[in-house]
Amino acid sequence: MSERPDRRQGGTLSDLSLAVHGGIRQDSTRALRTPLVMANSYELPADPSEISWSATAPGLYTRNTGTNQQGLQDKLAALEGGEDAVALASGVAALHAVFFTHVRVGDHVLVSDETYEATWRLWTELLPGRYGIEATFVDVGDLDAVRAAMRPNTRLVCIEAIANPTTTVADVAALAEIAHAAGALLMVDSTFTPPPLYRPLRDGADLVVHSLTKYINGHGDAMGGAVIGSRELIEPIKADAMVDVGGVISPFNAWQIQRGSVTLPLRMRQHVASAAAIAAFLEDDPRIAFIRYPGLASHPQHALAQRQFTGGSGGMMAFAVDGDPDTQNRFVARLRLITSSFSLGHDDSLIVHTGTGGGRVAAYPEEFRRWGHLRLSVGLEDTGDLLADLAAALDDTFGPH
Ligand SMILES: Cc1ncc(COP(=O)(O)O)c(C=O)c1O
Repeated sequence: MSERPDRRQGGTLSDLSLAVHGGIRQDSTRALRTPLVMANSYELPADPSEISWSATAPGLYTRNTGTNQQGLQDKLAALEGGEDAVALASGVAALHAVFFTHVRVGDHVLVSDETYEATWRLWTELLPGRYGIEATFVDVGDLDAVRAAMRPNTRLVCIEAIANPTTTVADVAALAEIAHAAGALLMVDSTFTPPPLYRPLRDGADLVVHSLTKYINGHGDAMGGAVIGSRELIEPIKADAMVDVGGVISPFNAWQIQRGSVTLPLRMRQHVASAAAIAAFLEDDPRIAFIRYPGLASHPQHALAQRQFTGGSGGMMAFAVDGDPDTQNRFVARLRLITSSFSLGHDDSLIVHTGTGGGRVAAYPEEFRRWGHLRLSVGLEDTGDLLADLAAALDDTFGPH
């Protein structure tokens, strides 16, 4: 299978073109689509001197790397502006791969106190107790607190560009400076802000993590995760977390995600446009208790979001209707187009209701603790249809205003 080098390099291609042509691999049939290669194993050359025995070499065994995985990795590296990428079985596998590979017994990590649930669990329930790695949770919006929490053995600072679910925005450039001054790496989970919205490596991040399950695939039918960064940092992740621990992505999922990512820049435009209209609509409605969307002027880090997310503030928002948890649930049950479901970044709009309790909620902004919140992932349906669905559900829950 050969690559088409003129179409792989991001240097001169715009986002739209890169999303179409990046990572395309052609086989001897010259098929225009990358074939799906489901083989577990590859025939070795008869002459052993032609075999590459490197653990992550192609043409050996699919846990060491596969054709579809490589195509996807090339594309992700080009889209994020990184030297290399590794595609793994899920977003959580990608997060774990960073921690497992780059943090050792006796190291300290600093983790944003508003963070995705599985990251929270890894750094509270799993890694400290089992591997003797200490984690400090800190408000990464308070740069002095971050500086004060750094220790001589701090190896990694772990943040989300936009936090799930609070939508708090992290100042990546400022945090990179603090991490590097202390000799630590900065890892940014950029799942809420895929390219072309944002490229954290340009702001000094060392490693970017994506749940590919979300926007990058975009169609809710495949799972994957990726880490993008320098070759020096990615190669050990491939060797340790992929080859030795087995977190490799399946060829089928890699093929599907590569296909889904073709329309990523176009889809993100629509997600952003609809989210902006919906956030403005909800903010104006007196039946809404609070709304947080980084594109709204009322968001606490709006100015930072405008500066940092040059492609827009994404399609994720958190809000609550004015009422108790039963009222939140009644409102969700009355939505017809928007579906109550976990996950995000799909073509269909998804909403999930979360309560006011639980360990990590203690660090959430006050309004989240008071009302609970609804996390809305704005999909690709017509903006007017989505607004009408929300308006009708509000009227059904509270009566017309
Ligand atoms: C910010 C963030 N990172 C990582 C993940 C994990 O992704 P996956 O479900 O693909 O393991 C999620 C999933 O919701 C997420 O929202």
